[in-house]
Amino acid sequence: MLKLTISLASLLAIVVLVNGHGRLWSPAGRGTLWRFPQFQKYNPERDYNDVEGFCGGFHVQYNENGGNCGVCGDSYSDPAPRRHEGGGLFGRGIITGNYSAGQIIEVQIDLTASHLGYFELRLCPQNNPLVPATQECLDQYVLELADGSGTRYPIPTFDAQLHTYSVKLPEGVTCRQCVLQWHYNTGNSHGYCSDGAYKLGCGSQEVFRACADIAIN
Ligand SMILES: *[C@@H]1O[C@H](CO)[C@@H](O)[C@H](O)[C@H]1NC(C)=O
Repeated sequence: MLKLTISLASLLAIVVLVNGHGRLWSPAGRGTLWRFPQFQKYNPERDYNDVEGFCGGFHVQYNENGGNCGVCGDSYSDPAPRRHEGGGLFGRGIITGNYSAGQIIEVQIDLTASHLGYFELRLCPQNNPLVPATQECLDQYVLELADGSGTRYPIPTFDAQLHTYSVKLPEGVTCRQCVLQWHYNTGNSHGYCSDGAYKLGCGSQEVFRACADIAIN
Protein backbone atom coordinates (compact mmCIF):
# COMPACT_ATOMS: atom_id res chain seq x y z
CA MET A 1 0.00 0.00 0.00
CA LEU A 2 2.82 2.35 0.91
CA LYS A 3 4.51 1.49 -2.37
CA LEU A 4 1.33 2.26 -4.31
CA THR A 5 0.93 5.55 -2.47
CA ILE A 6 4.50 6.51 -3.29
CA SER A 7 4.16 5.65 -6.98
CA LEU A 8 0.87 7.54 -7.18
CA ALA A 9 2.56 10.53 -5.59
CA SER A 10 5.43 10.45 -8.10
CA LEU A 11 2.99 10.05 -10.99
CA LEU A 12 1.12 13.09 -9.74
CA ALA A 13 4.37 15.03 -9.52
CA ILE A 14 5.13 14.19 -13.16
CA VAL A 15 1.65 15.20 -14.27
CA VAL A 16 1.96 18.50 -12.43
CA LEU A 17 5.36 19.12 -14.04
CA VAL A 18 4.23 18.51 -17.62
CA ASN A 19 0.92 20.30 -17.16
CA GLY A 20 2.33 23.68 -18.13
CA HIS A 21 0.76 26.41 -20.17
CA GLY A 22 2.94 28.52 -22.45
CA ARG A 23 6.12 30.48 -23.02
CA LEU A 24 7.77 32.86 -25.46
CA TRP A 25 10.11 30.52 -27.34
CA SER A 26 11.54 32.63 -30.16
CA PRO A 27 12.84 35.19 -29.67
CA ALA A 28 13.47 33.50 -26.33
CA GLY A 29 11.77 35.13 -23.35
CA ARG A 30 13.67 36.22 -20.26
CA GLY A 31 12.58 33.19 -18.27
CA THR A 32 13.15 30.75 -21.16
CA LEU A 33 16.49 31.75 -22.72
CA TRP A 34 18.44 29.53 -20.28
CA ARG A 35 17.10 26.53 -22.20
CA PHE A 36 19.14 27.38 -25.34
CA PRO A 37 22.86 26.56 -25.81
CA GLN A 38 23.66 29.89 -27.49
CA PHE A 39 22.76 31.85 -24.35
CA GLN A 40 24.80 29.82 -21.86
CA LYS A 41 27.65 32.31 -22.19
CA TYR A 42 25.52 34.80 -20.23
CA ASN A 43 25.24 32.34 -17.33
CA PRO A 44 21.45 32.84 -17.22
CA GLU A 45 19.23 32.29 -14.21
CA ARG A 46 17.01 29.24 -14.67
CA ASP A 47 13.30 29.81 -14.48
CA TYR A 48 11.90 26.28 -14.28
CA ASN A 49 8.38 27.71 -14.24
CA ASP A 50 8.71 29.70 -17.46
CA VAL A 51 5.38 28.29 -18.69
CA GLU A 52 3.58 29.91 -15.77
CA GLY A 53 3.87 33.64 -16.40
CA PHE A 54 0.20 33.88 -15.49
CA CYS A 55 0.10 36.96 -13.28
CA GLY A 56 0.09 34.84 -10.14
CA GLY A 57 -2.92 32.87 -11.38
CA PHE A 58 -6.56 33.76 -11.96
CA HIS A 59 -7.42 34.13 -8.28
CA VAL A 60 -4.47 36.40 -7.51
CA GLN A 61 -5.00 38.52 -10.62
CA TYR A 62 -8.72 39.12 -10.26
CA ASN A 63 -9.48 38.69 -6.56
CA GLU A 64 -6.35 40.20 -5.05
CA ASN A 65 -4.86 42.50 -7.69
CA GLY A 66 -7.98 44.03 -9.25
CA GLY A 67 -7.34 42.37 -12.63
CA ASN A 68 -3.83 43.80 -12.92
CA CYS A 69 -0.84 41.82 -14.14
CA GLY A 70 2.89 42.53 -14.19
CA VAL A 71 4.07 43.65 -17.63
CA CYS A 72 6.09 40.44 -18.03
CA GLY A 73 3.68 37.99 -16.38
CA ASP A 74 4.63 38.30 -12.72
CA SER A 75 2.01 38.84 -10.07
CA TYR A 76 1.19 42.56 -9.94
CA SER A 77 1.64 42.50 -6.16
CA ASP A 78 5.20 41.11 -6.33
CA PRO A 79 7.80 43.44 -4.85
CA ALA A 80 9.77 45.64 -7.28
CA PRO A 81 11.71 44.83 -9.30
CA ARG A 82 9.38 42.01 -10.37
CA ARG A 83 11.46 39.01 -11.39
CA HIS A 84 10.82 39.16 -15.17
CA GLU A 85 11.01 42.94 -15.48
CA GLY A 86 14.06 45.11 -16.13
CA GLY A 87 16.44 44.88 -13.16
CA GLY A 88 14.70 41.76 -11.82
CA LEU A 89 16.22 38.31 -11.42
CA PHE A 90 15.56 37.38 -15.07
CA GLY A 91 15.46 40.92 -16.48
CA ARG A 92 19.11 41.40 -17.37
CA GLY A 93 18.75 42.66 -20.92
CA ILE A 94 20.14 39.57 -22.66
CA ILE A 95 19.37 40.17 -26.36
CA THR A 96 17.78 37.09 -27.92
CA GLY A 97 16.93 38.52 -31.36
CA ASN A 98 18.52 41.03 -33.77
CA TYR A 99 16.22 42.53 -36.40
CA SER A 100 15.75 45.48 -38.76
CA ALA A 101 13.10 48.18 -38.57
CA GLY A 102 9.97 47.26 -40.54
CA GLN A 103 11.08 43.62 -40.88
CA ILE A 104 8.64 40.72 -40.98
CA ILE A 105 9.83 38.47 -38.18
CA GLU A 106 8.94 34.93 -37.27
CA VAL A 107 7.93 34.29 -33.67
CA GLN A 108 7.34 31.05 -31.84
CA ILE A 109 5.14 30.46 -28.83
CA ASP A 110 5.33 27.12 -27.09
CA LEU A 111 1.87 26.28 -25.76
CA THR A 112 2.18 23.28 -23.49
CA ALA A 113 -1.52 23.52 -22.67
CA SER A 114 -3.98 25.50 -24.77
CA HIS A 115 -6.51 27.75 -23.09
CA LEU A 116 -8.13 29.06 -26.33
CA GLY A 117 -8.20 32.87 -26.71
CA TYR A 118 -5.56 34.82 -28.61
CA PHE A 119 -1.97 36.10 -28.52
CA GLU A 120 -0.86 39.69 -29.00
CA LEU A 121 2.67 41.10 -29.21
CA ARG A 122 3.77 44.59 -28.24
CA LEU A 123 7.05 46.45 -28.52
CA CYS A 124 8.69 49.12 -26.38
CA PRO A 125 11.95 50.82 -27.45
CA GLN A 126 13.22 50.86 -23.88
CA ASN A 127 17.00 51.22 -24.39
CA ASN A 128 17.56 50.67 -20.69
CA PRO A 129 17.46 46.98 -19.80
CA LEU A 130 17.62 47.47 -16.04
CA VAL A 131 14.52 49.67 -15.84
CA PRO A 132 11.08 48.04 -16.22
CA ALA A 133 9.21 48.87 -19.43
CA THR A 134 5.76 50.37 -18.84
CA GLN A 135 2.56 49.09 -20.40
CA GLU A 136 2.02 52.61 -21.82
CA CYS A 137 5.30 52.29 -23.75
CA LEU A 138 4.36 48.82 -24.99
CA ASP A 139 0.87 49.96 -26.03
CA GLN A 140 2.45 52.37 -28.56
CA TYR A 141 3.34 49.44 -30.82
CA VAL A 142 0.91 46.55 -31.02
CA LEU A 143 2.45 44.37 -33.72
CA GLU A 144 0.41 43.57 -36.82
CA LEU A 145 0.22 40.00 -38.06
CA ALA A 146 2.10 39.67 -41.34
CA ASP A 147 -0.98 38.25 -43.09
CA GLY A 148 -2.85 41.52 -42.55
CA SER A 149 -5.57 40.00 -40.37
CA GLY A 150 -5.02 42.37 -37.44
CA THR A 151 -3.06 42.08 -34.21
CA ARG A 152 -4.66 39.04 -32.59
CA TYR A 153 -3.35 35.56 -33.35
CA PRO A 154 -6.26 33.22 -32.54
CA ILE A 155 -5.98 29.91 -30.65
CA PRO A 156 -9.07 28.02 -31.82
CA THR A 157 -8.31 24.54 -30.46
CA PHE A 158 -7.14 22.83 -27.28
CA ASP A 159 -4.05 21.36 -29.00
CA ALA A 160 -0.76 21.87 -27.18
CA GLN A 161 1.73 22.87 -29.87
CA LEU A 162 4.50 25.20 -30.94
CA HIS A 163 2.83 28.12 -32.72
CA THR A 164 5.00 29.72 -35.41
CA TYR A 165 3.74 32.88 -37.10
CA SER A 166 4.94 36.20 -38.47
CA VAL A 167 4.47 39.78 -37.39
CA LYS A 168 5.70 43.07 -38.81
CA LEU A 169 8.01 45.30 -36.78
CA PRO A 170 7.08 49.00 -36.95
CA GLU A 171 8.75 51.12 -39.63
CA GLY A 172 11.32 53.56 -38.29
CA VAL A 173 11.62 52.09 -34.78
CA THR A 174 15.15 51.12 -33.80
CA CYS A 175 16.63 50.28 -30.42
CA ARG A 176 19.69 48.87 -28.72
CA GLN A 177 17.22 47.11 -26.46
CA CYS A 178 13.51 46.79 -27.09
CA VAL A 179 11.12 44.85 -24.91
CA LEU A 180 8.91 42.44 -26.84
CA GLN A 181 5.86 41.49 -24.78
CA TRP A 182 3.81 38.36 -25.43
CA HIS A 183 0.31 38.69 -24.07
CA TYR A 184 -1.96 35.65 -24.06
CA ASN A 185 -5.56 36.49 -23.38
CA THR A 186 -7.03 33.05 -22.81
CA GLY A 187 -10.65 32.14 -23.54
CA ASN A 188 -11.48 29.01 -21.61
CA SER A 189 -13.28 30.52 -18.63
CA HIS A 190 -17.03 31.07 -18.50
CA GLY A 191 -18.49 34.47 -17.71
CA TYR A 192 -21.06 37.07 -18.70
CA CYS A 193 -20.90 38.56 -22.19
CA SER A 194 -21.90 42.16 -22.94
CA ASP A 195 -25.38 40.92 -24.00
CA GLY A 196 -25.85 39.30 -20.57
CA ALA A 197 -25.45 35.71 -21.76
CA TYR A 198 -23.24 33.39 -19.67
CA LYS A 199 -20.75 31.73 -22.06
CA LEU A 200 -17.33 30.24 -22.59
CA GLY A 201 -14.83 32.98 -23.36
CA CYS A 202 -16.79 35.83 -21.78
CA GLY A 203 -15.91 37.73 -18.62
CA SER A 204 -12.51 37.69 -16.90
CA GLN A 205 -9.96 35.34 -18.47
CA GLU A 206 -6.63 34.05 -17.28
CA VAL A 207 -3.70 36.02 -18.73
CA PHE A 208 -0.17 34.86 -19.54
CA ARG A 209 2.69 37.19 -20.39
CA ALA A 210 6.40 37.01 -21.11
CA CYS A 211 9.02 39.49 -22.28
CA ALA A 212 12.07 39.17 -24.51
CA ASP A 213 14.89 41.65 -25.05
CA ILE A 214 15.61 42.29 -28.73
CA ALA A 215 17.65 44.77 -30.77
CA ILE A 216 16.36 46.53 -33.90
CA ASN A 217 18.84 48.21 -36.27
C1 LIG B 1 22.81 40.35 -31.54
O1 LIG B 1 23.83 41.25 -31.91
C2 LIG B 1 24.77 41.52 -30.86
C3 LIG B 1 25.70 42.62 -31.32
O2 LIG B 1 26.24 42.33 -32.59
C4 LIG B 1 25.50 40.22 -30.51
O3 LIG B 1 26.40 40.45 -29.43
C5 LIG B 1 24.48 39.20 -30.08
O4 LIG B 1 25.12 37.95 -29.85
C6 LIG B 1 23.39 39.01 -31.12
N1 LIG B 1 22.39 38.16 -30.56
C7 LIG B 1 21.65 37.32 -31.27
C8 LIG B 1 20.68 36.50 -30.51
O5 LIG B 1 21.72 37.23 -32.48
